[in-house]
Amino acid sequence: MSIVSPGEKRPRVFSGVQPTGNIHIGNYLGALVQFVELQDQADCIYCIVDQHAITVPQDPKELRQHILDVAALYLAVGIDPKKAIVFVQSEVSAHTELSWILTCNSYTGELSRMTQFKQKNKGRESAPTGLFTYPVLMAADILLYDTDIVPVGNDQKQHIELTRDLANRVNGKYPGTFVVPDGRFMKSGARIMSLDDPTSKMSKSAVNPLSRISLLDEPAKIKKAIMRATTDSEGIIRYDIENKPGISNLLSIYSTFTGTPIPELEQKYEGAGYGTLKKDLVEVTVDALAPIQQRYAEIRNSEELLKILDDGAERANAIAEVVLKRVKNSFGLGR
Ligand code: TYM
Repeated sequence: MSIVSPGEKRPRVFSGVQPTGNIHIGNYLGALVQFVELQDQADCIYCIVDQHAITVPQDPKELRQHILDVAALYLAVGIDPKKAIVFVQSEVSAHTELSWILTCNSYTGELSRMTQFKQKNKGRESAPTGLFTYPVLMAADILLYDTDIVPVGNDQKQHIELTRDLANRVNGKYPGTFVVPDGRFMKSGARIMSLDDPTSKMSKSAVNPLSRISLLDEPAKIKKAIMRATTDSEGIIRYDIENKPGISNLLSIYSTFTGTPIPELEQKYEGAGYGTLKKDLVEVTVDALAPIQQRYAEIRNSEELLKILDDGAERANAIAEVVLKRVKNSFGLGR
């Protein structure tokens, strides 16, 4: 689906993924698929948000590796560095500078209402401040590039809303400071659910590795996770999130991987058993991930990857500097 009419300026797209390991098919089908789709129609900037990752404790050696893992996965899924900028967040210091300016324009009340913060903070007496201000840094990421469109999964909707609120609030005081962005969500991949508990979203941090399929999983693991996926006892393959979250999730995954609309899948599997759907989905998933895994293996330890990130940081810095200067000017910062 085209996002620009002929003659219109190409929109700016920005998005990011945390380098926390276990990048899974939820990340892929909710976000990365869009990253690739948009690069032919927009000026795209894709970031590896390492500063977001340190809102929870990280092993420094592992973090370094995970940054390169995500960079390699970006390229492996089809992001073309000739079309899109790929860079590491901490290599552009304007992100944290703008984050401070936005922090001064945010309220503790609105940050306390962020559901992701509430979930991550559950059971703690005192929250790390970075976890609390996480969405402000995310807003800075987006606003720093005059972003029009932010392709993400559904779980980021509230953060995008906050970004819009912050941009509008500042624009109310200092008109023209920020471009107000819109979120962009996949039709069926926007919220891929956990395979063992289809009422909660597939996540990198879930304890059970069979709850997710990571992009680098081997066919045997993919098979095990899908064949064991929680379903229901009705025995009819139809999309009904309320009553059949497990089967609906398998249909969403199948549909997003293949581009086949869900009603067509319902028709195809009319009268078939869950085992047949699962077996086919194993094949679809293994086939979709094989070329990604092959490309990943080729590029992960290459010089080319490092050059792409160097070049990306330079290009991102050039854009960010101009916007940050404008923002500082609006606020009267510096001389
Ligand atoms: P992260 O790293 O948790 O996830 C990366 C992307 O994957 C999407 N996603 C999912 N989509 C569908 N189903 C799921 N189960 C699922 N799980 C994750 C996320 O919505 C996301 O698009 N805060 C962001 C990273 C970030 C960012 C940004 C994104 C930092 N700055 C600026 C956009 C713009 C996050 O933690 O994503």
